[in-house]
Amino acid sequence: MNEPTPIRIFDTSLRDGEQSPGCSMTAAQKLRFALALAELGVDVIEAGFPASSEADRNAVRSIAREVRGSTIATLARCHEGDIDACASALEGAAAPRIHVFISTSPLHREHKLGLSREQVLERAVMGVERARRHVDDVEFSAEDALRTEPDFLAEVCSAAVAAGATTLNIPDTVGYTTPSEIRALFEYLRANVHDAEKAIFSTHCHNDLGLAVANSLAAIEGGARQVECTINGIGERAGNCAMEELVMALRVRAHYYNASTRIDSRRLVPTSRLLSRITGMAVQRNKAVVGQNAFAHESGIHQHGMLKHRGTYEIMRPEDVGWSQSQMVMGRHSGRAALADRLQALGFNLEEAALNRVFAGFKALAEKKREVFDGDLEALVLGADSAA
Ligand code: KIV
Ligand code: ZN
Repeated sequence: MNEPTPIRIFDTSLRDGEQSPGCSMTAAQKLRFALALAELGVDVIEAGFPASSEADRNAVRSIAREVRGSTIATLARCHEGDIDACASALEGAAAPRIHVFISTSPLHREHKLGLSREQVLERAVMGVERARRHVDDVEFSAEDALRTEPDFLAEVCSAAVAAGATTLNIPDTVGYTTPSEIRALFEYLRANVHDAEKAIFSTHCHNDLGLAVANSLAAIEGGARQVECTINGIGERAGNCAMEELVMALRVRAHYYNASTRIDSRRLVPTSRLLSRITGMAVQRNKAVVGQNAFAHESGIHQHGMLKHRGTYEIMRPEDVGWSQSQMVMGRHSGRAALADRLQALGFNLEEAALNRVFAGFKALAEKKREVFDGDLEALVLGADSAA
């Protein structure tokens, strides 16, 4: 196999994520989270949208001054004031990036901007050129790219590269695309944007149809080399591509994708928990990778299989994403093998008859309680002992 292709991870939890309901953070919280993202190994941290508020400007300022090891990006519309606000907030950053965007789709051009194709093109060029006066690292995004005419999208992207953009981001702003469509679009753009090799192509998928991770993976197959994502998939409406899922899909299916990231996957669960504590937004139990049930097994058949070989029902190791171990939940679906194993871990080595008595007591209790805890099992063993 050839060397794996490096994929840049661009985290936008502090910008696209933070602007969604229930996720707002103070400047101090944003700084704390940005430090955790740098430790996680994120390549680019989008710290905020400085023109949107004084609070955001202050948060970006402190992140730019204090966070090292990741590029710090800030968002701007193609407006002079927005771009200059980014430049000033980024003072002190070791690796600053200005990310300018404008809508390109017919729907947005007509109803949101009231601009023609030519005017959108002109503004995109102005935005990139102005950002380049401040920094060398400029990202251009064509908002609502997946509902834009492909030939016009290629024209805007070509103009952005000529104006100095070093990253071209192709957002699926409303989570409308499908894997085969986005892959084909990236292939088309790589073939039709002038000097395409001068820029890194980036994907930014929203999750309105639950396809954000699948679409991001398909974009990588089409040639994207940067993925924009958030921890826990937070973001506008149904959220953005979830970083933990994307990173682990690339890792678990390494033979298929042959792509790598700099993410220290053992920090995924701690970073997910930190974000939940900061925002107060809990992760659903069955969320892939970081949900409480992601490595929990309750059914007797699964527990039995797991006790023989964990690969029977786990495709990744819980330790590799930051959990301490798989969890055997003792409940009404659990079987004798799992009970015996749990009792042994608790220090009880029961003979057949005693195990049968405890198992009967356990089944009766599990009908009444959702989960049977270690203390319950101890009480059952001691009760069965005295009854014998
Ligand atoms: O979803 C989107 O289009 C965005 C851009 C501003 C990058 O968040
Ligand atoms: Zn977005």
